[in-house]
Amino acid sequence: MSKSQFHPLQFDEKTGEPYLRLPAPYDNIVITPPRMSDAPAIVSNMSDPRLYVWLEGPPHPYLPQDADYWLTNIKAETDLAIEKLRRASVEKPDGSLILVNESPVRTIREIQEDGSELFLGDITIVRERWPDVEDQEAKQALANANAKRELGDPEIVWCFGDYLAASHHGKGIMSAVVQTFIRDWAVPRMGVRQLRVETFADNVGSRRVFEKSGFVHEKTVSVNKVLNSGRTITAMDVLWWKASQ
Ligand SMILES: CC(C)(COP(=O)(O)OP(=O)(O)OC[C@H]1O[C@@H](n2cnc3c(N)ncnc32)[C@H](O)[C@@H]1OP(=O)(O)O)[C@@H](O)C(=O)NCCC(=O)NCCS
Repeated sequence: MSKSQFHPLQFDEKTGEPYLRLPAPYDNIVITPPRMSDAPAIVSNMSDPRLYVWLEGPPHPYLPQDADYWLTNIKAETDLAIEKLRRASVEKPDGSLILVNESPVRTIREIQEDGSELFLGDITIVRERWPDVEDQEAKQALANANAKRELGDPEIVWCFGDYLAASHHGKGIMSAVVQTFIRDWAVPRMGVRQLRVETFADNVGSRRVFEKSGFVHEKTVSVNKVLNSGRTITAMDVLWWKASQ
């Protein structure tokens, strides 16, 4: 029997959403599409200094309308991926799996004993945009060339963004999420062959997650960034993951 175009995602019977389940002992954790109802949890996480001091993009202070705007945008991307996979199911009856440029799932949730789900965080994979390069023209040239590469091109450089609710830090969850996401979705369904990530140089935890997941430190780069929270960043670590062949 041919595989579903959503392989290896499963479907939640209640919500109809595709999801990726982590392997044991983290099999109570799933990665699903975002939901507009995640807004209060996102506001709470983005207002937590244990998270926002490590993140470059989010507004500060983080307001409910910021979460609505963010969710509307990321939901449009995951909906697009779901639509592409649905269409491919109809157009490719032989079942040969297509590649997609985005993931239909990205929101990390913990299934509670009563079956309800707790919002835990986010993992996203996008084409690399070289945030550590301060020369705007050079940055733009690198990003444009990378964005133009055709899906499946092994030279495409991809990048991860991630965060986890502070209540769940230090339990091995993000390491399991990153490893599962690379193995089960990024490599087989997006054609990812190389990933470049940047962490603030004092973000020991994030660097360790990536190293545990097969990333190798390339360099530490001096930067001069002022986050929306007012914190100044003076150095970033650059790490790479490459597929074994
Ligand atoms: C960084 C982050 C994703 C780590 O997630 P996590 O689930 O707590 O990480 P894990 O439990 O999988 O930890 C993996 C390793 O990192 C180590 N680690 C995690 N947080 C650490 C910290 N703050 N300081 C030192 N080591 C840390 C763990 O001890 C573990 O190493 P070990 O297996 O050798 O003991 C999480 O702390 C987070 O969301 N931080 C805020 C947002 C952020 O930094 N995002 C990444 C931006 S680049």
